Amino acid sequence: MAGSYCRCIRFLLVFIVLLHVHGGHSQPCDPADLAALLAFSDGLDTKGAGLVGWGPNGTSCCSWTGVSCDLGRVVELDLSNRSLSRNTLGGEALAQLGRLSSLRHLDLSANGLTGAFPASGGGGFPAIEVVNVSSNGFTGPHPVFPGAPNLTVLDITNNAFSGGINVTVLCSSPVRILRFSANAFSGDVPAGFGLCKVLTDLFLDGNGLTGSLPKDLYMMPMLRRLSLQENELSGSLNEDLGNLSELMQIDLSYNMFKGTIPDVFGKLRRLESLNLASNWFDGTLPLSLSHCPMLRVVSLRNNSLSDEIAIDFSLLPKLNTLNVGTNRLHGAIPPGLALCTELRTLNLARNNLQGELPESFKNLRSLSYLSLAGNGLTNLSSALQILQHLPKLTILVLTKNFRNGETMPMDGIRGFKSMQVLALAGYIPTAGQFSTFPDSSFVGNPALCLRWNQACYKRVVTTEMRQY
Ligand SMILES: *[C@@H]1O[C@H](CO)[C@@H](O)[C@H](O)[C@H]1NC(C)=O
Ligand SMILES: *[C@@H]1O[C@H](CO)[C@@H](O)[C@H](O)[C@H]1NC(C)=O
Ligand SMILES: *[C@@H]1O[C@H](CO)[C@@H](O)[C@H](O)[C@H]1NC(C)=O
Ligand SMILES: *[C@@H]1O[C@H](CO)[C@@H](O)[C@H](O)[C@H]1NC(C)=O
Ligand SMILES: *[C@@H]1O[C@H](CO)[C@@H](O)[C@H](O)[C@H]1NC(C)=O
Ligand SMILES: *[C@@H]1O[C@H](CO)[C@@H](O)[C@H](O)[C@H]1NC(C)=O
Ligand SMILES: *[C@@H]1O[C@H](CO)[C@@H](O)[C@H](O)[C@H]1NC(C)=O
Ligand SMILES: *[C@@H]1O[C@H](CO)[C@@H](O)[C@H](O)[C@H]1NC(C)=O
Repeated sequence: MAGSYCRCIRFLLVFIVLLHVHGGHSQPCDPADLAALLAFSDGLDTKGAGLVGWGPNGTSCCSWTGVSCDLGRVVELDLSNRSLSRNTLGGEALAQLGRLSSLRHLDLSANGLTGAFPASGGGGFPAIEVVNVSSNGFTGPHPVFPGAPNLTVLDITNNAFSGGINVTVLCSSPVRILRFSANAFSGDVPAGFGLCKVLTDLFLDGNGLTGSLPKDLYMMPMLRRLSLQENELSGSLNEDLGNLSELMQIDLSYNMFKGTIPDVFGKLRRLESLNLASNWFDGTLPLSLSHCPMLRVVSLRNNSLSDEIAIDFSLLPKLNTLNVGTNRLHGAIPPGLALCTELRTLNLARNNLQGELPESFKNLRSLSYLSLAGNGLTNLSSALQILQHLPKLTILVLTKNFRNGETMPMDGIRGFKSMQVLALAGYIPTAGQFSTFPDSSFVGNPALCLRWNQACYKRVVTTEMRQY
């Protein structure tokens, strides 16, 4: 009885201590931190809205909006989306925040702030772990925090930072996430990422990076997400890509990579998404993709891949998007594709595929977008018979196939339940058959495109652009 009484008291004491530590509002504010915050706020333009919720001077800074303390020290500053752009925020003001010697999280995202970030964090930010300055208008070199041994997350997405990437300083901390998308970085992807041993997310997309990939990039054992799309990268991919065994997401689209795609995907068992669209890859589709059981999205659109589609789709139950349009693939449409019952988007357009649509396509119950345009397919009548069974099909593009003067089946387009855009142009139906199209049987307001003209072209291209 006495023992449990004691335990109860101890529990209560712990509870009270915890309340004291985390119940921010009653905490005093360390004078040095107060001075730093006031200096920061003084650095703001008084014409602007300023920092609503800061002050009055007499209250503890720990109770100010966006400020969190631990034992009276400011550990977190969340000023995300606080309309700070109505102030001019100079490098000076930011350097003041560097004096917050216990600050672990700094979020200044979505404020439209401009100007340079103080070089090397103004020598401050010794305890910083997470920095988010995304969606501002910062210019100049990207921030680095050489004096911060615990930096793990740096998000500078969507600014105007330029110059090169200072990988030496970045990788000297245990960084896990680097988000550098949508800036103005140029030059090569630097060597040195091999030192980033715990990096999981590397986003460098939407910059002006050039040159080929350094070998270091294949030496990050924890890497899960690699986004390098929309740069001007070139050269070929290395077989060492297979060493990145934790990879879940790769996006290298819209670059100038060439050569064959290394057939090493059997080593990337966690891969969920592969986007290599709009490059100059040639050779065959990598067959080892069959051994990525988690695969959901594959886009290899707009390359020069040739040969047949020989991937074993029976091993890819989660596949929901396959886009291999605009390549040089030939042979038949593989019937096995219909085993991917989660498939929602399928683009095989502008290849040299031959033969009829496989009967098995009846089973693609989730398919909502299908483009087979610009191939050498035959038997329109059979294709429409099969496809009208698909309850979710909303966009069907069959233009520029069926070149042998095939006729439109009389009841061919009655069954489609969800159709929104149906493009059939590019074969030559006789005038009499137009009158038999039961447009009215479509639900909603479908766009039926029967003749290859500007309107049809626009409809096909805009729907295609919405896909991967
Ligand atoms: C807040 O109080 C301190 C100390 O009393 C003073 O030095 C400082 O100027 C005051 N700041 C503002 C913004 O009123
Ligand atoms: C910023 O806040 C406004 C409302 O104050 C909201 O409408 C907007 O979506 C927010 N923007 C971001 C990027 O969070
Ligand atoms: C940074 O802030 C933005 C919102 O302003 C958010 O969407 C993004 O996820 C944050 N970055 C990280 C790495 O948490
Ligand atoms: C990287 O940053 C450190 C510290 O600010 C600096 O000394 C070094 O010159 C920088 N390196 C590059 C390549 O910019
Ligand atoms: C870095 O993190 C470790 C572990 O949490 C902590 O003990 C150390 O004090 C931190 N270093 C700084 C400079 O904040
Ligand atoms: C990739 O792994 C192979 C086999 O373990 C090794 O020989 C090669 O050096 C590794 N490549 C890189 C870039 O680390
Ligand atoms: C196809 O890829 C090339 C080479 O990357 C690119 O220039 C072109 O814009 C891409 N076309 C489309 C329609 O994506
Ligand atoms: C088209 O397919 C249907 C049904 O599979 C078949 O009966 C018909 O003979 C085929 N037509 C041609 C021209 O091959």
